[in-house]
Amino acid sequence: MSNVLILGANGQIARLAEKQLLSETKHHLTLFLRNAKRLEVTDPDRETVIEGDATDPDALNKAMAGIDIVYANLGGGKTIETQAKAVVQAMDLAKVTRLIWISTLGIYNEVPGAFGKWNHQQLDGGYLEPYTAAAKVIEHSNLDYTIIRPAWLQNNDTVDYELTHRDDLFKGTEVSRKSVADLVTKLINDPKKYVKDSLGVNQPYTDGPKPSFY
Ligand SMILES: NC(=O)c1ccc[n+]([C@@H]2O[C@H](COP(=O)([O-])OP(=O)(O)OC[C@H]3O[C@@H](n4cnc5c(N)ncnc54)[C@H](OP(=O)(O)O)[C@@H]3O)[C@@H](O)[C@H]2O)c1
Repeated sequence: MSNVLILGANGQIARLAEKQLLSETKHHLTLFLRNAKRLEVTDPDRETVIEGDATDPDALNKAMAGIDIVYANLGGGKTIETQAKAVVQAMDLAKVTRLIWISTLGIYNEVPGAFGKWNHQQLDGGYLEPYTAAAKVIEHSNLDYTIIRPAWLQNNDTVDYELTHRDDLFKGTEVSRKSVADLVTKLINDPKKYVKDSLGVNQPYTDGPKPSFY
């Protein structure tokens, strides 16, 4: 059993991961989010809610007590680099070392072909740049991190994914949030896996110039 801190706990992937972690594991979940009244606790013995902002190192420090694994499901465009710095600082201070960090495809210019071009057209100019900077903060830390780079996300009720690694070209165009939640659950259950790696996650056989829903 691990004590897992989930940052951005009301995020769409985070909520799927929380559901899966509660039903399939015995881990204790500390759920960190802004505006905490939005989140419904289903198992008070295994869920602790903390209201806070991930740009605030003090709030993060308080949330780190007794934590074994941090799963950061954060967003927020331009502030994501500030959040990455605050998370690394708080983890270092608390001597918590294992971090799972959700990022995005394209941060290494690793998406090939027409889809890679389209992806840049969609994400350059305010999204990809801060996500790239945030990933650098994580990679330059001393943490045992795994960065996850999902393909374009959809909400299909399927778990079907394959992985690429830090220096591979990205595969496919899309993936379900449920698949990413499944990968997060597997990493929390087996935290020595994919340490200091950066995983692309895609649904197999979805190669093409755009995701199917565009
Ligand atoms: N959409 C795509 O196709 C795609 C593809 C690849 C990667 N991604 C990225 O994957 C990540 C996870 O996806 P998702 O669907 O779960 O995203 P999501 O639903 O937008 O969840 C992100 C969470 O981050 C939280 N957050 C943002 N700034 C925060 C702060 N300063 N302090 C605390 N929490 C903060 C948000 O909280 P609030 O609810 O309080 O705003 C939100 O709940 C996102 O970063 C997304 O950009 C998306």
